[in-house]
Order: sequence, then structure tokens, then C-alpha cells
Amino acid sequence: MRLWEKGIPTDQKVLAFTTGDDPQLDMQLIEYDCRASMAHARMLERVGVLSRSEARAICDVLAEIIDRAREGTFTISLEEEDGHTAIENYLTKRLGDTGKKIHTARSRNDQVVTALRLFYREQLDGIETRLQELIQAFQSFSRQWGTIPLPGYTHTRKAMPTTITIWVGAHQAAMEDNRLWLHTVQTLLDQCPAGTGAGFGIPLKIDREFLARELGFSRIQENPLHVQNSRGKLEGDILHVLSNIQLDLNRLASDLIFFTLPELGYFELPDAFTTGSSIMPHKKNPDVLELIRGYAHRLLGLEQEVRSLTANLISGYHRDLQLTKSAVFQAFSIVGQSLEMATLVVQHLQVNETRCRQALTPELYATEAVYRLVEKGMPFREAYRQVAEQFRKGR
Ligand code: ARG
Repeated sequence: MRLWEKGIPTDQKVLAFTTGDDPQLDMQLIEYDCRASMAHARMLERVGVLSRSEARAICDVLAEIIDRAREGTFTISLEEEDGHTAIENYLTKRLGDTGKKIHTARSRNDQVVTALRLFYREQLDGIETRLQELIQAFQSFSRQWGTIPLPGYTHTRKAMPTTITIWVGAHQAAMEDNRLWLHTVQTLLDQCPAGTGAGFGIPLKIDREFLARELGFSRIQENPLHVQNSRGKLEGDILHVLSNIQLDLNRLASDLIFFTLPELGYFELPDAFTTGSSIMPHKKNPDVLELIRGYAHRLLGLEQEVRSLTANLISGYHRDLQLTKSAVFQAFSIVGQSLEMATLVVQHLQVNETRCRQALTPELYATEAVYRLVEKGMPFREAYRQVAEQFRKGR
């Protein structure tokens, strides 16, 4: 039974189309939806809509739903179309009229935004932890190998000498920038949307401050219409952070694929981190790094998908917004896994000091030679030409 059923049959094809992959996706939200519903039930008790025993009974059944969802015995059917409906139906089946009261003072529009924010908060905390672990792996890599010199490249050609500290420090600094972005998005997310209904408030006295406190938000998102307008926009912000992270991982992967190239051999990947070829017995391929690199393109696509979904919509809820869910869920999974894999690679990467030192060939010091002449008083351009001439003759 759908929440909006009024005795008029819905075409089955229409139902299947509008439901889409919501039953599968909403399974990931059940726990958060239930937690938000518990806070909602306690709020309804506070304002006198539910009795104490009714609120308690609702919270108990919601806890049961969380358990069942964890063990895989809670399901969302096509007929129910989404998790919000499945939860209310379950409550009504178990509690009768008491269950029918849970939707007082809410709409699925604010319900879904609330559940999503609780989910995003946890996911972003997980990303932050993984970001921190990668930063730590960079730091220990620098402590272990940092003083070893390395050729620096521009245009994929030798440029000037550098060190492993500088190289790995660049990747660390990029991830620290991403952490700043992440904190900004976490602050934007930290506004409680619950109690704003369909986007125009609730014609009943409710306690939004209480909901915010119960759900661990530091403030309420005041304007009810803005709550709906920020759906999709916030998802775009999340995806921007996630695609930034994946783009930085993409560069790290490209560097590592290049530096572990057997012809260069500056770095070595442990055998357990490589894959083989079905035809060429000697191959040790950096597939892990290639997939991390490749996923950056998927992330850019997902970011674009979400950002453009919100364009041209008038203010308020639109079903288009349902389509943002799968993009964000996919992105969290890809970036979480990629950060984990990148950390493992950095923790196990070996540096071949001999190969690094052998690679410090004379042309890397050409700019250095120019500056020694500049120190002696020669104009820069003249010194530059003089050294260029020496290298030309030397070849
Ligand atoms: N599955 C819907 C979504 O993600 C839930 C909200 C439905 N609201 C509505 N007015 N049809 O957007």
C-alpha cells in the first residue's frame, strides 16, 4: 500500500518507472530513516500528538526494523515504492492506529532529506578517516625515504632535481586541501531539515529545535523551501569534494605508474599488488593504480550528472531529485575504496635508491649551472645561452 493511495488504481508500468531503483537504494537508508523517525516520534510525544506509550512502541518497532535491515530480512516491495512507505507500513502492521500517526507533521520530502543527511554525515566521516590514513601513509613514506633525490619532470621529460619529500609532500598537501573542502561541506550538511514538510512548513505547532538536537545537528535549516532547493545542490557539493579527491588520486596513480615503470625503476610495487597477463607470463601490471586513475573520470561524470539535475527546476520538490541518490551512493563507494587502496599501495611501496641516484643525469643540473653564473654577476639571459650552448655541444 502506497502512502498516497486513495482508491484510484495506478498503472503498473507507471509505478515501475517512477519507482526505478529506489527499493534497492533505499535499503541503504533504512537505518537512517528509522533513526530520524525515532526522533520524530519523540518530538510528536513532546507536542502532544503521541502518548508516551505510543511513542515508545513506535521507537521499539523502529529499532526492530533496523535490526531486520541489518540481518537482511527487511524488504521494500515495488508496491511500496520506497523505504519511507515500507517503514510506515511495517509500523502500521505491527501497531495498528498508532503506526498510522507517525507521518503527522512530516512529508516524504523532508523525510528523505533528513535520512540522506544522516547517511551523508556518516559517509563523509568515513571519507575523512580514510583521507587521514592516506595522509599518515604519505608522512611515513616521507620519513622512510624522504631524503632520496629524484629527477623532477615537466612535459614528462627530465627538468630539475627534486626529492622524495617534495614529491610525496605535494600529494599530502593536495589531500590536506581536500580536507578543507570536506569540512566546508560537513558544515553545510550540519543543518536539520526535519519538520519542514513538503517545503512549506507544517500547519501544526511542532518543535524543530528538539528534532535538530535529537539528530545531532548544530542548527536547523530555517527556510522550508530552501530545504527542498538545497537537495541536489548539497549533493553536488559532496560530489565536488569527492571528485577532487579522486582527481588527486588519479595524479598519484599516474605518478606511480610512471615511477614504477621497469625502464625507470625508481619505485617498486610489491608483487602482491600487481596482476598478471593471460598470455604474457612475465607481466606484472599496475591494474590497481589504473583503476584508481580511471575512476576519476566516473566521478567527474557523476558530479556532472548531479549538478545538471538541479538546473531549470522551479523552487520546491521534483521527482528528478530522486535520481541524485544513485550517483552519490556510487561516488561514496568508489572514493572510499580508492582511498583505501591508495593507502595500502603507499604503505607497501619500495624505493630503489640506486635507480633514483643513477637517474640524476647532468641535464638536470643545467638550470643550477645558469644560477652559479648569475651569482658571479652574469645577466640571466646570457648565462642561460652560455649553458644552453655547452649542452648543445655536449650532445
Ligand atoms: N523517493 C523519493 C525521492 O527520493 C522520495 C520522496 C518522494 N516525494 C514525492 N513527493 N513523491 O525523492
